[in-house]
Amino acid sequence: MLTWLCLELARHPEVLQRAREEQLKFANINSLTLEQFGQMPYLDRVLLEVERLRPSVGAGFRGVVKEFEFKGCYVPAGWQLYYAIAFTHRLPEIYSQPERFDPDRFSPQRQEHKQYPFSLVGFGGGSRVCIGRAFAKMEMKIVAAHLLSSYDWEILLNQSLDTMGIPNRPKDGLQVRFKLW
Ligand code: HEM
Repeated sequence: MLTWLCLELARHPEVLQRAREEQLKFANINSLTLEQFGQMPYLDRVLLEVERLRPSVGAGFRGVVKEFEFKGCYVPAGWQLYYAIAFTHRLPEIYSQPERFDPDRFSPQRQEHKQYPFSLVGFGGGSRVCIGRAFAKMEMKIVAAHLLSSYDWEILLNQSLDTMGIPNRPKDGLQVRFKLW
């Protein structure tokens, strides 16, 4: 997801600028406290938007324990169901202009992911939700905060940005030039 964060921020300088301004209020990026990491609401939104638009895993499976009917379809016990993460994240019934990278869809005023349950499932959902979610999110936040406060970067030309693999990543791995600023 950090790969996609670099790409989306490079493509959306206005988002990069806002995320960077938020970091400037912290005097020493190398000694941030847990409490300070909780004071980055805009970075939280940016990371949620990366999770939505660029989920690492596109789908998952669930075993059917008890038969049920859904929209007229009978689903027997014992079947494996596929739940679509990437597809759900781009449903226009949930997310306005779903193809747009728009972190403010998670602002307190909009909260687009709260209209229906399981609208944002980049880490799965329910009782088998990813147990590393909080750890992974904190790790990403630490790296993102460091990148924002200390580096500028540009995406190199002549590379494929087509996506492939699990976790989902650009075909050429995303070649980026970082510089201290
Ligand atoms: C960006 C990082 C990560 C992403 C996107 C991610 C995503 C996911 C997803 C989609 C699932 C499937 C949940 C489901 O079936 O509903 C899952 C399960 C799981 N994840 Fe992660 N994960 C990440 C990081 C981690 C880390 C860092 C750990 C461990 C420290 C971890 C441990 C697990 C485990 C053990 C499960 C299986 C949970 C179960 O079946 O009860 N994950 N993860």
